[in-house]
Amino acid sequence: MDVIKIMKMKGKEKIVMITAYDAPSARIAWEAGVDIILVGDSLGNNVLGYKDTIPVTMEEMLIHVSAVRRGAEEAFIVADMPFLSYQVSESEAIKNAGLFLKSGANAVKLEGGGEFAELIRKLVASGIPVMGHLGLTPQSVNVFGGYKVQGKTEGSRKKLIEDAIALEEAGVFSIVLEMVVEEVAREITEKVKVPTIGIGAGRYCDGQVLVWHDVLGLNPEFSPRFVKKYADLYRISLEAVRTYKEEVKEGKFPGVENVFRKK
Ligand code: KIV
Repeated sequence: MDVIKIMKMKGKEKIVMITAYDAPSARIAWEAGVDIILVGDSLGNNVLGYKDTIPVTMEEMLIHVSAVRRGAEEAFIVADMPFLSYQVSESEAIKNAGLFLKSGANAVKLEGGGEFAELIRKLVASGIPVMGHLGLTPQSVNVFGGYKVQGKTEGSRKKLIEDAIALEEAGVFSIVLEMVVEEVAREITEKVKVPTIGIGAGRYCDGQVLVWHDVLGLNPEFSPRFVKKYADLYRISLEAVRTYKEEVKEGKFPGVENVFRKK
């Protein structure tokens, strides 16, 4: 997979993206045949125990990007630029995005609209493919005042469309639309030539992305409308670890088949 192939999928084949944060999950995602693995900054709330994505650092992201690359050597990997890794200055942004490519990513994703068009142009000119991200952009949760569905008002619809066009003109190869009302996501998808990848943005995007822990049911308290849980790994893991504990307490594990003997 590469950016050209991803762009050519628009209108022909739905694009499937899933997040992964470590080598074993990357391996599963690759074997399952997903088109893109996103090392999202949702690493913060799903893996590192932060309450949102704001605290996530470049150093943390780089460790997980390299791990994902080791787990899926051939996969197309997008690395999320964490909060303040690209907003402070263009030179810092280019350096940070470059570090992701050096660590194994094929492209970077950054949140924001037309205000980042110039930066995106420079990244692309430097050889760094960029995926845009519009709608509910979690790094701006403090500005939005919560995780709210976007595109409900005429002003918000207009701004989303303008931003999508600005990102396309700046050279992104695709745009994530997060928590956008279906009608507006559809309009954007029809207006831009690059693929849109939705999460909570309805049925008409060119592709879909979900978070690893949500797909597998690892976050029992989190079940928003846009998530479909394809397994209940929290319950399965809990039962497995409880059984292990009980078997050790009861002297059932290790059994004879688990021990080493002289002969
Ligand atoms: O960080 C992330 O997981 C994301 C997806 C929700 C698109 O940005």
